[in-house]
Amino acid sequence: MPSTNQFYFPFPPHFVIVMLQTANSTSAPQTDLAFQRCINPTCGATYEANSVRTSCDKCGDLLDIDYEWDRAVLPKKLSEFEAMWNQRTNPVRFSGVWRFHELLPFVPQDKIVTVGEGQTLLQQTDSVGDYVGMNHGKLHLQYEGMNPSGSFKDNGMCAAVTHAAMMGAKRAACASTGNTSASLALYCSATRLMRAVIFIGSGKISYGKLSQALDYGALTVQIAGDFDDAMIRVKQVSQELGIYLVNSVNPFRLEGQKTIMFRILEALRWEVPDWIVVPGGNLGNSSAFGKAFSELKALGLIDRMPRLAVINASGADTLYELVERRGVRWNGGHVNMDPIREYNDLMDREGKKADTIASAIEINRPVNLKKCLRALDTMDGVVRQVSDQEILDAKAKVGAGGFGCEPASAASVAGAKLLRREGVIAPSDRVVCILTGHELKDPTATVAYHTTDQEVFNKTLGSRGVTKASHANRAIAVPNELDDIIKAIQLYS
Ligand code: F0G
Repeated sequence: MPSTNQFYFPFPPHFVIVMLQTANSTSAPQTDLAFQRCINPTCGATYEANSVRTSCDKCGDLLDIDYEWDRAVLPKKLSEFEAMWNQRTNPVRFSGVWRFHELLPFVPQDKIVTVGEGQTLLQQTDSVGDYVGMNHGKLHLQYEGMNPSGSFKDNGMCAAVTHAAMMGAKRAACASTGNTSASLALYCSATRLMRAVIFIGSGKISYGKLSQALDYGALTVQIAGDFDDAMIRVKQVSQELGIYLVNSVNPFRLEGQKTIMFRILEALRWEVPDWIVVPGGNLGNSSAFGKAFSELKALGLIDRMPRLAVINASGADTLYELVERRGVRWNGGHVNMDPIREYNDLMDREGKKADTIASAIEINRPVNLKKCLRALDTMDGVVRQVSDQEILDAKAKVGAGGFGCEPASAASVAGAKLLRREGVIAPSDRVVCILTGHELKDPTATVAYHTTDQEVFNKTLGSRGVTKASHANRAIAVPNELDDIIKAIQLYS
């Protein structure tokens, strides 16, 4: 195994530490509780946690990580997790993912990989709330862009890389619209545990994300195709070469992503919000959120479920089409596959490709579709689509009233606004929009929105049907003369 890097703040080696016990902490979780289970109830095949799978051997369906919860050592109430806050020198408890280890106990503490992910913020904002149409105090933004690689992916990647390391993997691969690849590349460069092999569609990834993969030293394979093509190829290649796959078909990754919900509850002092609104791409997040709340409810740690809204970009709206137009439902696990097959065939016949400025969610064949249907079922969910115009306007409002986000993330705010307009969300509801990626991931889209250069606007945004930038903050051009500069500042401020 290559030597691991060392971090000198705020704690010693990031990789592996024995948990510190305190009087208030729960005991270290047992780790023989976890197993993999096929999500198809008529199959229900189970497999050891200590095996590498991305689908059921028997029926090909997706897999969950499940636990023998009756043997688990769990807190009696969620507020007991607050005892972890005073263990910040322990990397496991410093991590915003692993401080909830008891709720994802598939690994012993001494095998956990962490780079300090999950130090994210829940912001309550009335300026964005006004834009959405909420009563004051009711709109919250969960900034997952504050993760080490700048997106929510680190929540899941630390779990997937932990499992990959447990399995002795030397290479890990993913297809990506940019954030998964940036995250995998970071975990590989920071830990030196394995080599990252990433598949990206040509011309489909924003520079911020591409630059991360290159800088972190990932083997970067650019496919002549889009994300959906790259996803098919990475599955084939990892199977053929025995490379560990970290896309969200990997059920361990979704265990890490559950913790986004735990942190939201933590920030709301363990009160359940009314709505979680999330952009939908490959549908890993929505699937993980549904699983998180179902487990908390079954364990008696919450007393009610929030509702879920998954927001597609209108140029990549497969989930919306299937759920809201073609009536596809989870149906107790007996999903009617006919409309799904028909729609996939239609996309093939018409050569329909996903197309949106929100490149992170430019996906037409979401791999976690069935799990997302399950989450929509358990969380009484809805699906909506929003245009690139709505996404960019919402993004400008998030920038002006908060800490900013990348285009795909703003789909959640645009979606909340739409659901408010429809009356599905009430102004008095407590709403949390998940901002999945950092503002700096895609500066091209941001600058094009705020630019005074019509050519730049047309090239990047006009070509996608964006006609105006109502919330643009334009730079003012002034001659290099003191008087003119002063006059301009007096005029505009
Ligand atoms: N927002 C951002 C910023 C993303 O990067 C992604 C997914 C999503 C939303 C959608 O999340 O797949 O869980 O529904 N990006 C993947 C990638 C596909 O390759 O980085 P999802």
